[in-house]
Amino acid sequence: NLTVSDPLRHVDSMSLIPYGAGKIDHLNAVVLGEALASEDNDLVVPSEEFSRQALVPSIEKYLEMYRRSVEDPAGFWSEIASEFYWKKKWGEQVVTENLDVKKGTVKIEWFKSGVTNICYNSLDRNIEAGNGDKIALYWEGNDLGQDGALTYTELLAKVCQLSNYLKDVGVAKGDAVIIYLPMLMELPIAMLACARIGAVHSVVFAGFSADSLAQRIIDCKPKAVITCNAVRRGPKVINLKDIVDAALIQSSNEGISVGVCLTYENELVMKREATKWKTGRDIWWQDTVPKYPKTCEVEWVDAEDPLFLLYTSGSTGKPKGVLHTTGGYMIYTATTFKYAFDYKPSDIYWCTADCGWITGHSYVTYGPLLNGASVVVFEGAPNHPDSGRCWDIVDKYKVTIFYTAPTLVRSLMRDGNEFVTRYSRKSLRVLGSVGEPINPSAWRWFYNVVGDSGCPISDTWWQTETGGFMITPLPGTWPQKPGSATLPFFGIQPAVVDEKGIEIEGECSGYLCVKKSWPGAFRTLYGDHERYETTYFKTFSGFYFSGDGCSRDKDGYYWLTGRVDDVINVSGHRIGTAEVESALVSHPQCAEAAVVGVEHEVKGQGIYAFVTLVEGVPYSEELRKSLILMVRKQIGAFAAPDKIHWAPGLPKTRSGKIMRRILRKIASRQLDELGDTSTLADPGVVDQLIALSDS
Ligand code: WTA
Repeated sequence: NLTVSDPLRHVDSMSLIPYGAGKIDHLNAVVLGEALASEDNDLVVPSEEFSRQALVPSIEKYLEMYRRSVEDPAGFWSEIASEFYWKKKWGEQVVTENLDVKKGTVKIEWFKSGVTNICYNSLDRNIEAGNGDKIALYWEGNDLGQDGALTYTELLAKVCQLSNYLKDVGVAKGDAVIIYLPMLMELPIAMLACARIGAVHSVVFAGFSADSLAQRIIDCKPKAVITCNAVRRGPKVINLKDIVDAALIQSSNEGISVGVCLTYENELVMKREATKWKTGRDIWWQDTVPKYPKTCEVEWVDAEDPLFLLYTSGSTGKPKGVLHTTGGYMIYTATTFKYAFDYKPSDIYWCTADCGWITGHSYVTYGPLLNGASVVVFEGAPNHPDSGRCWDIVDKYKVTIFYTAPTLVRSLMRDGNEFVTRYSRKSLRVLGSVGEPINPSAWRWFYNVVGDSGCPISDTWWQTETGGFMITPLPGTWPQKPGSATLPFFGIQPAVVDEKGIEIEGECSGYLCVKKSWPGAFRTLYGDHERYETTYFKTFSGFYFSGDGCSRDKDGYYWLTGRVDDVINVSGHRIGTAEVESALVSHPQCAEAAVVGVEHEVKGQGIYAFVTLVEGVPYSEELRKSLILMVRKQIGAFAAPDKIHWAPGLPKTRSGKIMRRILRKIASRQLDELGDTSTLADPGVVDQLIALSDS
C-alpha cells in the first residue's frame, strides 16, 4: 500500500532482495562478495551487520521517516531543528514557499524569525556538550610530513580572533568578504569567522584566474579579501597574492575598491619578502590576527539572513551568485551529512573537495562540524608524491568515511591496484562520490578494491543550488546499484518531466525536477531574482529544474545522465560553454567559437572548442596555444580546452544559430549520427569540419 508521497510508488513489483541474504563474518565482510558486485548482477546488498548498526537500519524505517518528511515537512524539520541552538525560536510558519512563477514571485523561507548562528552551532555548542578537546580539523599539507590539528576549543579561539579582526576593520553584518585561499585550515576558519559576525562569505576557488576573481569582486563588492601569499600544488608553486593584486587593480578600474587584503603567510612555500605589498591595504594575518581576543560575541541572525554567496557557472552569461541563507541550510547540511554517511561520533571523516566549491562548504565545513565530527583537510594533490597518497592519509588518520569525486576514482584506478593494496585501509567503513555520474566500472573498482567489498558507497546527487544531498543512498539501508544515486533524501520529492513539463510516473527518462522546497535550497541569485526565476523555475512551471537528465528504473532508483543544458562537467567542475566561448572570442584573432563537451576517460567530460579565425589569419600551433592561454587567463587552468578544432566555418541554421548537436557528434566522432543537416545555411561546412577533425 504505497501512497503518493512514497518514493517507491513507481515500483511495479518490489524486486529489491531482502537484506543480509549473504554470509556475514564481520563488519567489513564481503557480502555476497564479488559475485554481486560483478557486471552480471546489479544489486549490491549491505551486510546485516552494517545494517544493524546503521542510523536507518532498514528500508521500512526509511519509508516511515520519508513519508513523515513529505507529509509533514514542518513537523519533521522542526523536530530536527530543535536539536540545535536558537536564540529565539522560529515563528508559527515553519516554511513559506512558492515555486510556481504563475502564482507570483518565487520564494522559499524556512524557520523565518528564528534567530541563530551557524558558527555557534558548529563550535560553541559542541564545546558546551563536552567535546572541546575533540579534534575538529586535522590538516595534511601538500608534502609528506606537513600536518597539524585543532581541537574544537582551539578552532573556536582562532575563529574568534579573526572575527574580532574583521569587525575591527569595519566588516559588519551583511557585508561580503571574499576568501581566496587554498586548503589550509585558515579557509574553514575564515568561513566560520564571517558566519560568526553575520558577514556573507564568498569563497572563490584558488584555481580561478585574476579575471574571474575580479568579476566576482565587482559583483559582490566585498569589504575585505582574505588570501595567502603562495601555495604549492604538487611540485608547482603558485603566487596567489599576485593574482589577488591583479584582480584588485581590475576591480578598482571598475570603481570597486577593497580596503583590506588580509594575507596569510604560507611560509612553508614562500617567505613574505618575496611578496609584493601595498601598504595600507595589505595586512599579514600572522602579524595582526593573533593579537585579538580569543573570544568573540556571536552576531545572532535571522534564519533567512544570508550566510554565503557562491558563484557557479550557468549555460549563459556571467557566473551566478548562488545565495544560501542561514537556518535552513544549517539544518539541511547537518542532517544530510549525518544520514548519508551514517555518521557516528567515533568517525574520522575526509572529503577531498576544495572549499572553493559547494562540496567544501556543505561537507568539509558546515555539515561535519555541526555534527561535531573530526574532519581531515587536505591541501595537496592526491597523486603527490605518488598515487598512493590518499590511502597513506586514510591509514595515517584512520579515516572511516572517505568522500571524493569519480574523476579521482578513475585516475587512481588507471594507476593500478598496487598503490591501493599497499595500504591497510581497514578503518574505512563508508565511501562517497559526488560531482558527476560515477560509471559502473569505476564504482565497482571503488567498492571492491578501495573498500574491500565492505563499504557502502554514497553516490550523492546534488548541486550548488540545492545546498545539500538530494538523491543519495543511505549506507546499510537499501541495496545499491553501481552507478545509481538510488533514492531521494528525506523531504525531497523528485519529479521526472517530459519536454512539455508533464510529470512522468513509473519507469521513465526525462528531466529531473523537484516539486517542493527543502530547507537547504538556495533563495535567489545575488542581485538578480529574475534570472533565478527564469533559469530554474520557468522551464517547467511549478517545478525547480535541476538542468540534469535522469531515468528512473523499475525499482524507483534514479540514474543521473548528466547536464541537459550547455554546462560541461570537467572533473566534477561545472563550466559554462558560454564562458569558455567568450574567453576564446576575446582573442583578437578568433572570430567565432563554439564549445561542446566530449567524453573523457578520466575527467568525465573534456572541453572541445571549435573556432573560426579572423579573415586572413592562418591557424598555427602558436595560435592554438595562445587561444588556450586566453581561457586560462580569463577563467582558470581547470577550464583550458582539451582540443581546439580550427574550422573555416561553423554549421548554422539559416537564422544564424550554431547547431551544437552536429558539433557534439563531430567532436565525439559519431559521424554516422549527424542527423539531418539539410536545414543548415551551408551544409558544406560539415564536410569541411570532418575533414579538419584530425588536424
Ligand atoms: C552533477 C556539486 C550525477 C550534476 C555537488 C549536477 C552529479 C552538477 C552528481 C552540480 C552525482 C553532482 N551523480 N551527477 N552524484 N553530483 N552531479 O553545482 O550534473 O558543482 O547538476 O555541485 O554536478 O554541480 P555543482
